[in-house]
Amino acid sequence: MENKEKQVISRKRVTDHGEVLTARREVEAMLDLVKQETERIESRFLEPACGNGNFLIAILERKLSVIERKLARQEKHLKKAEKRPGWKAPLYEPDSLLALSSIYGIDILQDSIDAAKERLLTYFTESYQRIVEKEIPQEVFAAAKFILDKNILLGDAINPQKDVTVPGVPGLDQIIFTEWSRIGNDFKRREFRYSTMYLDGSETAGASAASDDLFAGDKSAAHDVFKTDTGNEIMKPTPVRDFPLTHYTKISMKGEL
Ligand SMILES: C[S@@+](CC[C@H](N)C(=O)[O-])C[C@H]1O[C@@H](n2cnc3c(N)ncnc32)[C@H](O)[C@@H]1O
Repeated sequence: MENKEKQVISRKRVTDHGEVLTARREVEAMLDLVKQETERIESRFLEPACGNGNFLIAILERKLSVIERKLARQEKHLKKAEKRPGWKAPLYEPDSLLALSSIYGIDILQDSIDAAKERLLTYFTESYQRIVEKEIPQEVFAAAKFILDKNILLGDAINPQKDVTVPGVPGLDQIIFTEWSRIGNDFKRREFRYSTMYLDGSETAGASAASDDLFAGDKSAAHDVFKTDTGNEIMKPTPVRDFPLTHYTKISMKGEL
């Protein structure tokens, strides 16, 4: 079995953190249950115990292959002169960054987070070179790295800060996630507390009480309440931070970590 297919790294990690990694075949079978979503490049996935990224890498592969197929279809309609080297770059770059920005992970072990980010970045870079047929530009690489630093986070996805079991790991209530959305070649970045994100799309007024408890005295926890035409209440969490629209090539320059 290849090293990256190893499901158990050590007995201690299994005992301490329940770390048994999922094999590729099971990953693919589970993703097939939500196949359509894995093939929508903007569809967001969060894995709250991502390990070294077995699910995340498979999702990235599916999304990038959708973009590759789209470009192959476009290529059929191009004249020879239009197929200049690198013609795919302006189409592939924002699409692939959007795909990457829709993938989120949390794990309680720093080395797993590092491994997951490295794996995703390497796959992103190699795919760029294979599909666009040129070296990845420095600013696109930097944007991808920045997005991964924002999306793949060390944290305890179960316990609040006061109960975390691994010292130095941010608790559930300390985790900040970034929402990325694309408008043309610009990206909008907003940051939300992970613990308020379940409010998005929630249909029960009970969620309102829960959020009041969780963030009593915390102004950033304020949220808007919308009523649907069927009378249900939907809470929209307020971002902790909101950034101006930024061209995709400048994502890493405009944002501090
Ligand atoms: C069964 S493994 C699954 C890993 C990965 N999802 C996969 O399928 O290959 C469980 C993972 O959860 C992580 N983990 C355990 N407790 C956690 C917690 N409280 N918060 C976040 N991650 C945790 C472990 O470090 C481990 O990577």
